[in-house]
Parts: sequence; C-alpha cells; structure tokens
Amino acid sequence: MDIASFFPARATEREISECYEVSTAAFSADFPGRPVPSCAAFAEQLRMPTSLLGTQRFWVARAHGRIVGMVTLTLPDRENLQLTITSVRVALGDRRRGIGTALLRATLPDARTVGRVVVTGQGLKVGGDGEKWASSLGFGKVQEFVLQSLTVPDVDPDLWRVTAPAGFRTEQWTGAAPQGLVAGYARARTAIMDAPTGESSLRFPDWTVDRVRQHEADLRERGEEQRIVVAVHERTGTVAGLTEMVISSARPTVGYQQETAVLPAFRGHGLGRFIKARQMQWLTAERPEIDWVATNTAADNAHMIRVNHQVGYRTDATVADVEAQIDTLEAH
Ligand SMILES: CC(C)(COP(=O)(O)OP(=O)(O)OC[C@H]1O[C@@H](n2cnc3c(N)ncnc32)[C@H](O)[C@@H]1OP(=O)(O)O)[C@@H](O)C(=O)NCCC(=O)NCCS
Repeated sequence: MDIASFFPARATEREISECYEVSTAAFSADFPGRPVPSCAAFAEQLRMPTSLLGTQRFWVARAHGRIVGMVTLTLPDRENLQLTITSVRVALGDRRRGIGTALLRATLPDARTVGRVVVTGQGLKVGGDGEKWASSLGFGKVQEFVLQSLTVPDVDPDLWRVTAPAGFRTEQWTGAAPQGLVAGYARARTAIMDAPTGESSLRFPDWTVDRVRQHEADLRERGEEQRIVVAVHERTGTVAGLTEMVISSARPTVGYQQETAVLPAFRGHGLGRFIKARQMQWLTAERPEIDWVATNTAADNAHMIRVNHQVGYRTDATVADVEAQIDTLEAH
C-alpha cells in the first residue's frame, strides 16, 4: 500500500473515476437511498481549487494497482482558522488494513505547518465504521445532526401554501442582497448563533455586511447559485428572518437548504415554516429540474426538525461530528 499526495487538476480520468468509486461506494454503504452525484459532477467539484470552506489538499492510497482510499484536508480560511475539516474514505473491501489511519496520518504535518491544532470529522454515520474508527483513534463526538431530505415529486405542494403571519411579508433574491436590505439581512443572519452547537469548536461566521458580501462572492466564484428568502416585519421594516438555498452548477438537480434563522424578538410566529415554504414554492416554480433538496439540522434542534417535516422533509439518518487535538492523534 502506497500513500501519495493527489492533485485533482492534474489527475487522469481513470484516477478520478477510481476516487469516485471509493467515495460513492463508502457514502452509499452508510446512507443507502441517498442520491450520489454523477462522476462528471464529482470530477467538477473535485477539480475546483477551493471549497466554500477553504483550500483543500488530497492524498490517495493505492493498492493492487488502483486507488483504494482518499483523504481530503480542508483548511477553513475565513473563520475556524485553528482547525481542519478532514474526510477519509476507504473502499469497503480494503478496510481494517490500516489505510484510513495512514491517510489521516499523512495530513497531520501539513495541518500543523499551517497552524491547525484540531482535526474535525463531519457527518460520520452514528454506529457506522467511521464513528468506530474515529473513536479508536482518540476522536470525541462533539455534536449529532440529522440528515433530512425532500423528494420534490413526492411532496404535495399544498404544504408550501402557508399564509403569511400577520404583519410580515417576504422579499427574495438570488446572488446579491439588495443594498437597501443588506444591513438588516446581515443582522438577521447573526441569529444563527443561537442554533445548538453541542461541544463543537466550529464557529459560525460573524455576519457583518462585509462578510455577507464575501460569502456571496465566494459562491459566485464557485458557480453556486444562492437563493434567499427573508421575512420583513412590515411596521418597522426589520428583516426578521432568512432562509438560504444553494444550487451547485455541478449538480443542478439538487438544492442544498442552508442556514435558516429568525431574530429572537420575532420567534414564535411561524416565520421559520413560512419562509421555508416560500423558498420551496419559489424554487420549484423557477427550477423545475430540482428533484431533491437536502439539509442538516442539529439533532437537538427539535423546532427546526419539526418545521422541516411540516414542509415535506423526511429524516434519513443521524450523523456525528468528531474532533481530536492533533497532539492526541500523533500520540496515538
Ligand atoms: C473510517 C474509515 C476511513 C476507516 O478506514 P480503515 O482503513 O478501515 O481504518 P483502519 O484500518 O486504519 O482502522 C484502524 C482502527 O480503527 C478501528 N476500526 C476501524 N473500523 C472499525 C469498525 N468498523 N469497527 C470497530 N473498529 C473499527 C479499529 O481499532 C482499527 O484497528 P484494527 O483493525 O487493528 O482493529 C472507513 O471505514 C470508511 O471509509 N468509512 C466511511 C467514511 C467515514 O465515515 N469516514 C470517517 C472519517 S471522515
């Protein structure tokens, strides 16, 4: 078995397709029934120089003349500068041979060199191989999430005909917040800080107007379409809440439901359900090719989970985020 750095931009089609096999087989084993990207979409995403979270570096493991494992080291570069987001995948038939551990080990010197002290693993299926592997290496579970998804053709659109709570209207845009709303919108986004974060070290962005504009630019640069619906309190003009949907050009039939937040003063009026329902009405009217929408919600965020069920999401699986100090991993 050989571990080597991997550069997707220079990789052959065969190498990309071997990475695709490893990645999608591991994913489907943990999450049967969840759609996987096409190989072309996977390749397009892999070849992008950065992810939305930061720069990425890759290593692969080769055995029997092909790629049998890969690791992605993501180095967040806007916030969370002390940690990495590290994702390891090993082919089902090559597990328990030390490959996953060797791939993780390969990332640690680079992580240290750029000042990272914590390694984070995200979305490990609770009770799956990944969680058992991580715990044997000294990672601790810091938070659980539920994966929820909405299969558009299976959902009755009546679920999205929700009457506006009295005194509120919606505004919506793609790509860039209107100048007149951006300050209020940024302030509404700060309400995400109240979402449960368990023991996780990951911090949400500090949503100033500048950070909002940077996020919009990052999405544009990656060919991702951002669709925002906000609730506006009509008497005061306050942006009371927002919900964000992102569509990647590499996977145009999938919607990623991202942050939803309502300012504390406006909670308890049904705004969360209202704006998420509006988002689905707008999305399905303008983007009929989208047939599947996915979201993650903290497992203890009962209110958001219930709202998602009300607009047609079902819960597919429970996953964990794990963290370890690099010192702990190296000592191991
Ligand atoms: C997690 C994963 C990368 C591990 O790869 P691997 O090559 O099998 O891991 P290793 O051989 O290095 O395992 C090292 C140790 O972890 C523990 N371990 C790994 N898988 C285990 C399992 N299914 N049950 C119990 N312990 C396990 C064992 O102690 C193992 O040592 P041992 O085989 O000598 O007993 C692989 O299972 C995988 O791809 N899972 C799906 C993706 C995922 O969840 N990744 C998590 C990190 S983001």
